[in-house]
Amino acid sequence: MSTPLYTALLRHQALNRASFHTPGHKNNPFSLPQDLLSLDFTELPDTDSLFEADGPIFEAEQLAAKLFGTARTCISAGGCTLSIQAMFRLAAPNGGSIVCSRVLHRSAVNAMALLGLHPVWAMPGDIISVIEKNPNAKAVYVTSPNYYGELLDISAISAACKKQDIPLLVDNAHGTHLMFTEPKLHPLTFGASMTACSAHKTLNVLTGGAWLNIADERFASGAKEAMALFGSTSPNYAIMASLDLARAWLEVHKKEYVSLQHKINELKTAAAQHGIAQPGGLTDPTRITLNTASIGLSGTAAAEIFRGAGVEPEFADAAHVVLIATPFNTDSDFTRLAEAIDLLPVRSPLPVHAALPPLPAVKMPLRQAVFDPSETIALDSATGRIAAEAACPCPPGVPVAMPGEELTKEIIEFLRGYGFFSIKVLK
Ligand SMILES: Cc1ncc(COP(=O)(O)O)c(C=O)c1O
Repeated sequence: MSTPLYTALLRHQALNRASFHTPGHKNNPFSLPQDLLSLDFTELPDTDSLFEADGPIFEAEQLAAKLFGTARTCISAGGCTLSIQAMFRLAAPNGGSIVCSRVLHRSAVNAMALLGLHPVWAMPGDIISVIEKNPNAKAVYVTSPNYYGELLDISAISAACKKQDIPLLVDNAHGTHLMFTEPKLHPLTFGASMTACSAHKTLNVLTGGAWLNIADERFASGAKEAMALFGSTSPNYAIMASLDLARAWLEVHKKEYVSLQHKINELKTAAAQHGIAQPGGLTDPTRITLNTASIGLSGTAAAEIFRGAGVEPEFADAAHVVLIATPFNTDSDFTRLAEAIDLLPVRSPLPVHAALPPLPAVKMPLRQAVFDPSETIALDSATGRIAAEAACPCPPGVPVAMPGEELTKEIIEFLRGYGFFSIKVLK
């Protein structure tokens, strides 16, 4: 019997690495009941139906709404992606433009393409002035926290949205737990109208479990219809039950995230003593982002050293290793991570990345650029062509070109500097 995927998972499991990546349950037997397989049912008279919920699913959603203090909270078994799609659908059902932070996940780009929405791009430091210059926008969409755990000033952005009476949609994929930190840093606390929360990333939830949190009552009644537009009619009951269980766990144990903050603080102090720079400003206190370039090591090289020491990180790029810790990491996980950090060699810092080229001209609507025929060509011959994909070197994690934008000479040079050799363009 050949089971390549199952076998690969077993092989990975046998490595027994400390999990500093998603899912937040860390495969820890204390995080969720072991009998979830036996509870993988479907829509039955007893079990309710996700998109027509009026029984136990609705009750589970009401309890989650109480925990997050929202007008409506909906379960997603299709990840945060489904919550993002629903936010756009709710905010701009008839199309229009959306002021959009340039730092965004591809699920948002795809959702806007599917719905025929027009992004008006804003750099993270520039969002408020772009809102003020676009009074006809239907909504504002931002990502906070970003992958590195950096948070935007949601209060200020929310105030600008309120002035224009438009909703603020926040991709809070990495920040569901921020409702339980001290201080609370969840975007709902600072005036977001809706948040897409990828619960499986930082809570004890099975992969694919997320919530759509709606604070603005005007969007509550349409939420299910918006989710049903994109979601599968066979949502996984084990995933949905894990969201219900995580919510119940949090009601009793939310202080665990505060204890986690303290542990991580110690770890970050040790990393700083080792010479490793870390993001400043307002950040998620549980996110571990190590700028290994500051000790002369690319993030990808550092991640390999971590793996050798039995630690699996979430993400690595040219300059950083990112690790996700939750209350379900064990003491031995943290010991291993501290030892792995100690193993990193310290050399002279790597060069800091070049300044971003200016935002290029939009030559074609996003939807057309995503769906029209495209081809992958050598980067060197792409000047003047129209991008068919987001080109996003990390760091900085800000796309220098989005689908529909012209590839300028500066952009090509910038991408070459990051080791890009080819790019997808419109035919
Ligand atoms: C910032 C951000 N937004 C959205 C998503 C999509 O979330 P999900 O995988 O739960 O659909 C991700 C996934 O990595 C993400 O990093």
